[in-house]
Amino acid sequence: MEPLFPEENEQIDRWLAHPPEHVVEAVNNHSGDYLVLGVGGKMGTTLALMLEEAIRRSGREATVTGVSRFSRPEVRAELEAQGVKTLACDLASADEVAALPTSTNVFFLAGQKFGTTDAPEATWMQNTIVPSIVARHFTTSRMVVFSTGCVYPFASTDGAGCDESVPLSCQGEYASSCVGRERVFTHFAKLNQTPVNLFRLNYACEVRYGVLVDIATRVRAGESIDLTTEWLNLIWQTDAVAHAIRCLEIADCPPVPLNITGPNRISVREIAEKFAEKFDTEAKFTGTPAATAWLSDASKSHKLFGVPPRSIDWMIDAVAHHVAAGAPLLGKPTHFETRDGKF
Ligand SMILES: NC(=O)c1ccc[n+]([C@@H]2O[C@H](COP(=O)([O-])OP(=O)(O)OC[C@H]3O[C@@H](n4cnc5c(N)ncnc54)[C@H](OP(=O)(O)O)[C@@H]3O)[C@@H](O)[C@H]2O)c1
Repeated sequence: MEPLFPEENEQIDRWLAHPPEHVVEAVNNHSGDYLVLGVGGKMGTTLALMLEEAIRRSGREATVTGVSRFSRPEVRAELEAQGVKTLACDLASADEVAALPTSTNVFFLAGQKFGTTDAPEATWMQNTIVPSIVARHFTTSRMVVFSTGCVYPFASTDGAGCDESVPLSCQGEYASSCVGRERVFTHFAKLNQTPVNLFRLNYACEVRYGVLVDIATRVRAGESIDLTTEWLNLIWQTDAVAHAIRCLEIADCPPVPLNITGPNRISVREIAEKFAEKFDTEAKFTGTPAATAWLSDASKSHKLFGVPPRSIDWMIDAVAHHVAAGAPLLGKPTHFETRDGKF
């Protein structure tokens, strides 16, 4: 029998990428091919595989091509084995980008967050210069540009969080470069009449990485959880990627921003206590909860595409099962507790 939560990497990738019916229908209504820029990272495989399966189930003829430098070559091999075409390209090279095929539908996932404090110039290069090269090449495509909820100011932890009407803020060097990414795409979209969606995501989670994995592993190791950032927003990676595919429908000029996350703010304390119960241990805490945090109100995306179906309790079950089984983790902490914008 198929395990409820698979533990092998390839099974996990397929499982995470299984498209819901509304995505299959959406793909059936699209035209043209798909290009996933930055496919080699944490979300790219899920996106490329979901598109590939949705195309197959819809019966439409289209190809999915994943573009990355492929610093993890095993990702390329897996994508190719599952029917996704791949092209190796450094998107920071205008010459290499000029050689990329154009495509009706383009997802932009390349970016940099970690290492900003040590090498801020690399983050600005990746988050503003690369977008300028990419936006100038794909002028006739429909684009979903991955962004982040960090482009907003902190919101009160008592409220619903920032919606799309809140003016952007530059809180720390990483967040500032992400505002820059949006501004650069917006500039070229307006110049060339390119339809763009700015996909403002708050914390995608799956069984191998994410805020839930960070909390689960710390609770299991008996380490304290910092409660300074007590409230945050989460979404399961499958649900985030399903919404990314649907966002092709709302791409427009000027670009349309959309917050993508779960329906409620989530308490880090409550998550830790639930993991502690599952691991038969006690959660330890440190820090005093701050009155503000990076919180997003994603109700507009929920009205458009539905509330993400995976509940927080379902996500905690999946992650607890994976961590307790000693199954492989990505080993990439999210640093969700960071409040000074230094990553
Ligand atoms: N994951 C989240 O929870 C989250 C939350 C908020 C926002 N986001 C945004 O969503 C996007 C995707 O997230 P992610 O977690 O999948 O990011 P990620 O793990 O950093 O993946 C992005 C991938 O893009 C590729 N890339 C970077 N620079 C490139 C370049 N110059 N040329 C070609 N490929 C390049 C890299 O793969 P190679 O090394 O193989 O080139 C990298 O692994 C990010 O831009 C991030 O801003 C993610």
